[in-house]
Amino acid sequence: MTDTTATSAPRSLRVWDLPTRLFHWSLLALVLISWFSGGEDETAFIHRLSGMALAGLIVFRVLWGFVGGEHARIAAFFPNPFAIAGHIGKVASGKPERHLGHNPVGGVAVFLLLAAVSACVITGLFSSGEGFAGPLVGQFGLDMSEVHEGAFRVLQALVALHLLGVVVESVLAKDALVPAMITGRKTRRADEPGTDARKGSVAGLVVALLVGVSTTAALWALPTPAVAEDGEHGGQYGGGDDDDGDRDRDRD
Ligand code: HEM
Ligand code: HEM
Repeated sequence: MTDTTATSAPRSLRVWDLPTRLFHWSLLALVLISWFSGGEDETAFIHRLSGMALAGLIVFRVLWGFVGGEHARIAAFFPNPFAIAGHIGKVASGKPERHLGHNPVGGVAVFLLLAAVSACVITGLFSSGEGFAGPLVGQFGLDMSEVHEGAFRVLQALVALHLLGVVVESVLAKDALVPAMITGRKTRRADEPGTDARKGSVAGLVVALLVGVSTTAALWALPTPAVAEDGEHGGQYGGGDDDDGDRDRDRD
């Protein structure tokens, strides 16, 4: 690739592909919906739907991490202890380098955020509340309602750190991170290195979408155990829609 002009005008570089940006803002929306619908009987349907949609979204993102655009690939931001230490040192000195993709600390945050959302989804499948239960509660003798709440608290803390990280990095590195997650582009001075990100695979996108949607559909199709309305996890659950009693069991 040759640089055709000797202009000193700043360049606008393609950084985040559309699927990654749509993933991010859908993730935010669904986490907020899950947050405000959790634990309420009246919004149980929405909670179940948003939680299972998140499952498909995470599966999509993991697959896109192998076939997506240059900076969306997991290999591009896989944690490297030396790079992380170096970046923290530069942030401490007030002069972090600008990165086109995730910075080394941001890369760790991505893994932690995805793990925390996954933990919420998985524990949710094994949770039960008043009049509402995840489809797998009682399987392997598990009721993870309290772990589910704990996983959500961890996610809340990570989101707070994520927002702090985005603000600190945007200010210290003088980089417009939030606009980049909206437009997909970052501006660089003519003398700064960097080129447009390589695009992802279209066939890979189709496969990732199909697998993600199938994941949500498969979870949605699981029979929902009936839960007694007598509160405090003390009810009886099991049986699914056909109420065949397969999973019926008493809990203390
Ligand atoms: C529930 C809330 C949120 C969650 C779970 C979340 C999660 C994530 C994840 C997983 C990524 C990595 C994206 C990828 O590579 O696929 C990311 C990146 C990013 N998020 Fe969020 N996010 C949340 C809220 C927000 C909000 C409210 C903002 C700003 C207004 C924001 C700004 C960003 C930016 C700028 C990046 C790119 C960071 C970078 O340049 O390395 N996020 N977020
Ligand atoms: C497969 C998806 C999910 C299912 C089936 C599910 C199921 C449940 C159930 C049964 C409860 C009631 C537990 C109780 O009252 O003790 C609950 C509460 C809750 N869930 Fe989920 N959940 C799912 C995903 C999520 C996700 C992804 C989040 C957050 C991002 C989340 C956040 C919450 C919150 C905040 C509560 C309220 C906890 C409280 O009582 O304080 N859930 N969920």
